[in-house]
Amino acid sequence: MDDRVVVAGALCDRGRLLAARRSAPPELAGRWELPGGKVEPGEGPEEALVRELREELGVETLPVERIPGQWPLGRGRVLQVWTARLLSGEPTPLEDHDELRWLGPDEVHTVDWLDQDRPAVAEAARLLRDA
Ligand code: CDP
Repeated sequence: MDDRVVVAGALCDRGRLLAARRSAPPELAGRWELPGGKVEPGEGPEEALVRELREELGVETLPVERIPGQWPLGRGRVLQVWTARLLSGEPTPLEDHDELRWLGPDEVHTVDWLDQDRPAVAEAARLLRDA
């Protein structure tokens, strides 16, 4: 059986990366993540990412490229991350998050990221710096 995929977006706009602080479940609340969620059966990962970012943040986005690698989440799940561009809307914490922050490449270390998100965040910061 393949691992169940959770997709997350390294959403970039004007040289900054969006960080989202989880409001639930209790063991993850207060930690920061790249927003995203589970790919549903029959859905492609990029399609799932666009849907999740619309549901959670109220924005339209364009997945750009997959950040190489995948990271185990336990319980048969793996995290895959895409860079994405903001097409329209202002990100708003509609569900799952209680704070959002745009971080420049030198600010990404100022929030407490979920451990499993850290490699992708580091790569996204490198891409921002080189852009
Ligand atoms: O929104 P949905 O219920 O589909 O998924 P979620 O609860 O946002 O994410 C599913 C699981 O993936 C959670 O247990 C998170 O711990 C994990 N996750 C993560 O580790 N890093 C992310 N950037 C996004 C989700």
